[in-house]
Amino acid sequence: MELQRGNEQLETLNQTLNDPEELKKYKEAGDHYDPAPLPRLLGAWLVWWGNIVYGREPSYLKFRAVEVIARVPYHSWGSAAFTLLTLFYSNEQKAMHLSKVATYARLAGDNETMHVVVISGLAKNEEHAGVVRHTLVPMLFAFFYFCWSYILYFVKPRYSYDLNYMFENHAFEQYSRFLETHGEELQKKPMHSEFLAWYGRHPRTQYEFFLSVRNDEIIHRNTSIQEINCR
Ligand SMILES: [Fe+2]
Ligand SMILES: [Fe+2]
Repeated sequence: MELQRGNEQLETLNQTLNDPEELKKYKEAGDHYDPAPLPRLLGAWLVWWGNIVYGREPSYLKFRAVEVIARVPYHSWGSAAFTLLTLFYSNEQKAMHLSKVATYARLAGDNETMHVVVISGLAKNEEHAGVVRHTLVPMLFAFFYFCWSYILYFVKPRYSYDLNYMFENHAFEQYSRFLETHGEELQKKPMHSEFLAWYGRHPRTQYEFFLSVRNDEIIHRNTSIQEINCR
């Protein structure tokens, strides 16, 4: 069986967001969302630690750590939906909802996997990665994040989506800043990645690649709110 590739609908939306006006409209639709205090605190704590360990400014290795951690909530939602489905086999409405959650979690998780695989490849050519700071610490963060995201989903799914909203918003801001500050040099760097081509994306330069990742992150952020609203 083949692995999950990029979803056509999400890919079309991603390309639409290359237009600054479309991006502005789409972003503003989710800007005023107000996460609950507990996920807000956890999200802020995670971002604060990330800034302490990897610096406030974006870099290839900071992105790699961000992406290792960003996959986790989707995995936790898929796991939580799987667990809850065992309790609601006889409730078709509930089962349908949980199946939709699991499908989206798989799509978004695969999208984050693409980010981490491709960015790890780019980082190898740009910066030296220490084992503790760039492998062990992101894994510990990811483990911490998985536990909270999974537990919060059972306590109140909205809290888990709120936490993801916080993290994805941070990721979007970091990629936007990277494009602003490194745009010129990224335009000159050609993009080659077998994994990315298999996924179905064909950016010509690193600039185009990071633009598409930035768009993914704002889609992930806004989709968290949509998940809350359709519950
Ligand atoms: Fe990502
Ligand atoms: Fe994301």
